[in-house]
Parts: sequence; C-alpha cells; structure tokens
Amino acid sequence: MAISLSNFLLPIALLTSFIRAATVTYDFDIGWVYSNPDGQANRPTIGINGQWPIPPITATKGDRLIVNVKNSLGNESTSLHFHGLYQNGTTHMDGSASATQCDIPPGSSFTYNISVDQPGTYWYHSHTRGQYPDGLRGPLIIHDPDDPHKDLYDEEIVLTFSDWYHDLMHGLIASFISISNPSGAEPVPNAALVNDTQNLTISITPGKTYLFRMVNMGAFAAQYVWFEDHTMQVVEVDGIYTEPADAEMLYITAAQRYSVLVTAKNSTDANFAFVGSMDQDLFDVVPEGLNPNVTGWLVYDDKKENPAPKDVDAFEPFDDFALVPTDKEGLYDHVDHSVQLDLKMDNLNDGANYAFFNDITYVPPKVPTLYSVLSTGSNATDPLIYGSNTNAFVLKENEVVEIVLNNNDPGKHPFHLHGHAFQVVSRSDEEAGNYDASTAPAMPSIPMRRDTILVRPDGNIVLRFKADNPGVWLFHCHIEWHVLSGLIATFVEDPLGLQTQLSGKIPTDHLDVCKAGNVPTAGNAAGNTVNLLDLEGENKSPAELPAGFTARGIVALVFSCVAAFAGMGMISWYGLQPVKAKTG
Ligand code: C2O
Repeated sequence: MAISLSNFLLPIALLTSFIRAATVTYDFDIGWVYSNPDGQANRPTIGINGQWPIPPITATKGDRLIVNVKNSLGNESTSLHFHGLYQNGTTHMDGSASATQCDIPPGSSFTYNISVDQPGTYWYHSHTRGQYPDGLRGPLIIHDPDDPHKDLYDEEIVLTFSDWYHDLMHGLIASFISISNPSGAEPVPNAALVNDTQNLTISITPGKTYLFRMVNMGAFAAQYVWFEDHTMQVVEVDGIYTEPADAEMLYITAAQRYSVLVTAKNSTDANFAFVGSMDQDLFDVVPEGLNPNVTGWLVYDDKKENPAPKDVDAFEPFDDFALVPTDKEGLYDHVDHSVQLDLKMDNLNDGANYAFFNDITYVPPKVPTLYSVLSTGSNATDPLIYGSNTNAFVLKENEVVEIVLNNNDPGKHPFHLHGHAFQVVSRSDEEAGNYDASTAPAMPSIPMRRDTILVRPDGNIVLRFKADNPGVWLFHCHIEWHVLSGLIATFVEDPLGLQTQLSGKIPTDHLDVCKAGNVPTAGNAAGNTVNLLDLEGENKSPAELPAGFTARGIVALVFSCVAAFAGMGMISWYGLQPVKAKTG
C-alpha cells in the first residue's frame, strides 16, 4: 500500500497555515568576512555563516522565532537585539548585553527564543559595545495575515538604508572617546548604502503598487529619502499601522522604519531615481569629497537609461508627529509617574567627551541589570541597587509613565525605548528649550506611536507608555557613538512581577556565557550579594573635571601638546595623559 508523501504533507502544510504558529529557526554562525559595498575599501566585516550582507529574518505574526547564535568572531564578544519586538514575557531574550544578558564570548553559543505576535518592519543588530556598524545588522520582517493594507499593494520590497565606515569600530571608538577628541566629534561615515550596496536597481511593473519597507540601520546618519516623481503613502511606522498619509520625502533617523505604498506609473517611458541622503547637519566637519547620497532606480524598462537624480532645493520632509495609528489608541491623559531626563554632553577628567542624562553617563554594570532584579528579592524595587551609573528607574506594574526629555545639546538625537512603542505626546521645534506644560501646544487626542523618535536640537519631547510589560528595558539615543559615550537610561519595569514571571526560566546557556566571560550573575550592580546597598567596586565613569577646567581648556592643552611635540619632531601621545582627578 503506497501512501503518497505529497498527499501526506499537503494537509499538514494547510493546517499550520491555519493555526499560524510555525516555528522559524535560524542558525547563525557569526564571524569575520571581507566586504566592499561601496567599492572604495575592502574591509573586515561581521558576517553570518560566511556571508555579508547578513540574511533578513522573516516570520509571520504568531510564529515562534528561534535564533541559534554561535560566536566565531575569535576576538570580540557579541549579542543580538531584535529592535522593536516587545518581548512580552521574554525580557531575557531582548539581547541587550549588560542589561538583559551577558555578552556572548568568542567560542560560546546562545539561543534566542521569542514568540512574535506583532506584525511589522523591524531589524536586528548586535547590542554589544559599538559593534553593529561593523556589519552585524539586518532587517527583521514580521508578516501579517490580517494586514489592514494588504488589498492596497501587489508586492513588497525591503529597502535598508545605512551609513558605512571604511575603518573598523574598534579603532574609531578609541579615537572618539579620547582626550584627543575633547569636543566629542563623531567619526563621519565614508558612504551611504541601500541594501548594503549602491546603484541598486529595482524592476518595476507598470500599474502595480509596491509596499516598500524601509529601515535605517545606520550607526549615525539619518537619511532623507525620496522617489523622484512618485508619491509615498506612509502606512506603518516602527511596527505601528497608520492611516495612509502622503509624503514626498521622509526623514528616517538611525533605527526608524517606515512602510510606504508607491504606485507605479502606467507606462515604461522612463526610469526614475530614488535617493537616500545623509543629513550632513549631524557631522561636525564634512570631509571634502564625501558623497552623502546613495542612489537607486525604479526600472520600468531596462533598456532605457537610469537618469542621474535631480538636485533638490531644500529638504522638507514629512512630519511624522501628525500620523494617526490605525487602532486609534487614545492619549494616556493621566500620568502616574513622570521621569525627566536632561541631556547634555560634557568632558570628564580623562579629557574625553561623554553624554549624560541628569549629569550621569551610563556605564554598564558588573552584573547585568536583569540578573540583579532576579537575585535581590524585595530589594529589587530600590533603584540604588542597580548602580550609580545606570540611570535606573523602577516602574510599577501598569502605571502610565511619561518621559520628558530636554535636549540641552545642539545636536539631533533619535531616542529608542526597548520593550514598548510609546505615544509621542509632544515634540518641540528646535531651540524651544526645556519642556513647559503651560506653554506647550495641546496634546493630540490620538497620538502617533513608534519606538524611535527624533528630538530636535535644544528642543524637547514628551513620551508616554503603560508599564504593562515587566522587564529591563533600555532607553537610549540610537546614534551608536552616543550609546558608547553613555546616553542610556535603564527602566526596570515591575521587578517583583518579573521575578515571578521568570522564576526558574533563565536557560542554562544564558548563564553559561556569563561564566565563560567571568561575569557575576547575582547581587547588586557591583556583584555584592550580602549588603545590597554597598556598591563598593562597581563600574563607574571617570570623575568630573576639577572645577574651573573646561572643554576649551582641554582643547587648548591638546593643541599646545601636539604643537610642542610636532615642534620637537616627535609626536608622542604619551604626553597626553588624562588630567588627574581631584579626589574627594
Ligand atoms: Cu536598536 Cu537598544 O537598540
């Protein structure tokens, strides 16, 4: 009796599509490869399974996503963060090294196991010190059988935008956080990429409508994005469906995503350029010869030329603040817990430039914050145990939390919160100064929601969310340079609920990587398990500059040292020792 295999398989395939709970597994062996995406420099790049660009992760709403990571880098630890996934019930799978797990040391393995019940456009990236710009970042797409816009388009295309450096992060970081860079000037990218290349061509069928899922997975630069002679219709931002809104040009900060509908013309008379253009306002000094643009083409007829893009007179991007989520979630108009974060940049006594919230620059704790939560019993509700340099805020279950962020810095910053999408209830123009509820415009009754938002130079933003997701969630600027210089706060959401939720649930491979890296997994931020309020030995930032010592003074010192050594014909950086701390 012959049972045909195909007859046997078909019903199972149908069944799984009905119950929509497939398990999607990726085996990622992370290691160095060479790449040269802009044709200007062949450089070591972090690839997966010997390949770069690294693969997109795709799944369907309701799936279980399993990512088995093996670190074969040899010389660097790693981690993977799934940017935008709420990780409800699985904060330990969030991938934030030093917050929700230990770094995965070379030679070790680690499994991420996540149930994905939110559709949309996301990305995944290393969350280990300054690493993702070396290549370890890719798109993560969660498809939705119930997509409210699905009848509006024929095909979907993922477009990743990014900036690109010819040098490795290791060296760039050393020169960025350094006494020889007291102003904190960020390294300027060498090129812009789309889908990890340049001059991308996309073949277009006349009359069809395309859903372009766009992700900025850059380290630093926001990009202006436009399609010549085609209007975009925004239908999703950062995983939140929106009422369709027309846009001629978008401004996509590092880590933001937009899905847009673009309807093709009905003729094949011409091909059209589309452009990603890095926002050069972010760069302290624009190097001569930098091409800030990456160009691609909508190709209707591959026998016709791909025209050079036209110049634009001014950048006038779409304002995301006006978007309306399809679910019409109303404003949280009652706030239980308001957190004010005042942002500044300043020097510490090692002469380098750091970023601060409320005068504190983030330094990763010795014990990852989640493991402090899980090992400190009722003390887990005391923010002090998480250390003096983590900007830790403890949130109560289900309270409505408001973040008021005052940007006391002339730079633009894209802020991201893990574990939530937030309502953007207020955003000022630049130069508006600190938030003042009595003079700010009325809040929208249905605010836009997303997980990454731009705060303008010397302006402010106000964000609200409900603390309904127990976990350890970082809030940080998504410019990777500012992550390195400490622009991070830690939200410890419902720590006692989290203890119950995760009791006995931390997989052994999570603890094994800590052991392999010699990282303690119990006690306060300093690893003290006896006196939880004793932070002796914790990781701390350099001390403040002695009173009266200014950044300008450091600049003068550096230049006079450089001039002196140059004069003697021997440039020696040993002369630039950190300014000695004033103790006490
Ligand atoms: Cu894209 Cu902290 O993450």
